[in-house]
Amino acid sequence: MIKNIVCIGAGYVGSPTMAVIADKCSEFKVTVVDINEQRIAAWNSDKLPIYEPGLDDVVFRNRGKNLFYSTNIPDAIREADVIFISVNTPTKTFGTGAGRAADLQYLEKTARSIIEYADSDKIVVEKSTLPVRTAQAVSRVLNSNTKGLHFQIVSNPEFMAEGTAVNDLQKPDRVLIGGLETPEGRNAVETVAGIYRHWVPGERIITTNLWSSELTKLVSNALLAQRVSSINSISALCEKTEANVDEVARAAGFDSRIGSKFLKASIGFGGSCFKKDILNLVYLCGYYGLPEVASYWEQVVAMNDYQASRFVGNMLSAMFNTVADKKIAVLGFAFKADTGDTRESPAIAVSRMLLAERARVAIHDPKAMVNARHDLADVENDVLFCEDPYEAIKGAHAIALLTDWKSFRELDFKRVFEMMEKPAFIFDGRNYLDHDMLYKLGFNVYGIGRKPLTHF
Ligand code: NAD
Ligand code: UDX
Repeated sequence: MIKNIVCIGAGYVGSPTMAVIADKCSEFKVTVVDINEQRIAAWNSDKLPIYEPGLDDVVFRNRGKNLFYSTNIPDAIREADVIFISVNTPTKTFGTGAGRAADLQYLEKTARSIIEYADSDKIVVEKSTLPVRTAQAVSRVLNSNTKGLHFQIVSNPEFMAEGTAVNDLQKPDRVLIGGLETPEGRNAVETVAGIYRHWVPGERIITTNLWSSELTKLVSNALLAQRVSSINSISALCEKTEANVDEVARAAGFDSRIGSKFLKASIGFGGSCFKKDILNLVYLCGYYGLPEVASYWEQVVAMNDYQASRFVGNMLSAMFNTVADKKIAVLGFAFKADTGDTRESPAIAVSRMLLAERARVAIHDPKAMVNARHDLADVENDVLFCEDPYEAIKGAHAIALLTDWKSFRELDFKRVFEMMEKPAFIFDGRNYLDHDMLYKLGFNVYGIGRKPLTHF
């Protein structure tokens, strides 16, 4: 019988996941620990460190009852029956595999803390996204302890998306649990499955061997990102041929074998996972001597970079080949709506390209202003950060809509038009606004993968 669940890593994944486990399993004590004191203090405060719809409710109704946030890692490890590891696994920036391989130093440090403080056997669950076969290394580190302790490693990757994390955790498409094909391995998988069975229907809990589980996480993200890059590549062709990419995606997606999801053309995918996980896959393919497979997946990232630079290229050519000294209102900086997260947001690359063209960039985002300032700290004197969208828009030559926040559809576009320099341009990087309405108001409207609506 397990009583204590601990999660090491109080980030975007660890904290929401544990909040939902605590919510659904009142008999377990769930403790989330982190080395970052500020982050833990924020999880214990009235203003949580991340914005995620519905998360405040789940945290506030369980915190202090069976959900705890702490920096006391030694005590948490000692008490734990099951330890989830949810630390960051960013792309390596140094040494072998720099720019591609996953940086596993935080994972290994966590494993070493577990052997330092544990005084009983435990199940250790990989919640972080990891290269396939990492569990072997984790198991070797953990089971090299000199205390005679035994650790079972289970892989349980997380598939939630930001902005919908709480709903995804409460009603997951599937929960994947991988373990060793030994009696102890199967028992450990069963224990972890038992946690999820509190609220996830049995047929949605998939069990596999360890390596399939680790690899499935990378493959799922790669396949999703590939769809976005595929439709974005087609958006470029649409712009040359007057086909409309949204019509193409809709009509193609009606085929149930293709499906409609993740075919929304955009300025490109962002977020902390897609690029990192594909590059990791590319690295692994190279490592295992599969260069053709590596270059196949690498193209998904190359297409994504191309899409952002193509967007800025289109802005430049529409605006008479110069944006120097022109004010550009960047609406949206988060990598998608309903999150304040800006990691790998295409808005960073787009803003930097506009600054390189000497544009005056004014940024507004409903939830991501703190992160935007942080991302552009080195060029902050050249950027205007605006709490009010109309302040960003006032006197602008163009609007670049980069995140599909609902509030942007609700702007008073008549007023927006009056406030802008003429000719007024809107570059809709999400095909999110009502282009016909904007055109009728007098804007020159450029979407992704569709014919521009211009007055000249
Ligand atoms: P994050 O950076 O938000 O959080 C990671 C936390 O781990 C940080 O607070 C950090 O201080 C803490 N940490 C690092 N080393 C530690 C140590 N030795 N001891 C204690 N705490 C330590 O990262 P995240 O977005 O939550 O991602 C975590 C993992 O989950 C990654 O592997 C990521 O790829 C994966 N993932 C992320 C998402 C997502 O949407 N963000 C979705 C699925 C999977
Ligand atoms: C992704 C995966 O969806 C999730 O399963 C995994 O656990 C973590 O990585 P996330 O990055 O939070 O989640 O958001 P997601 O909704 O996948 O969007 C990623 C990026 O792709 C965003 O920038 C989004 O705007 C973009 N996107 C998505 C498109 O441009 N078009 C689409 O059709 C879908």
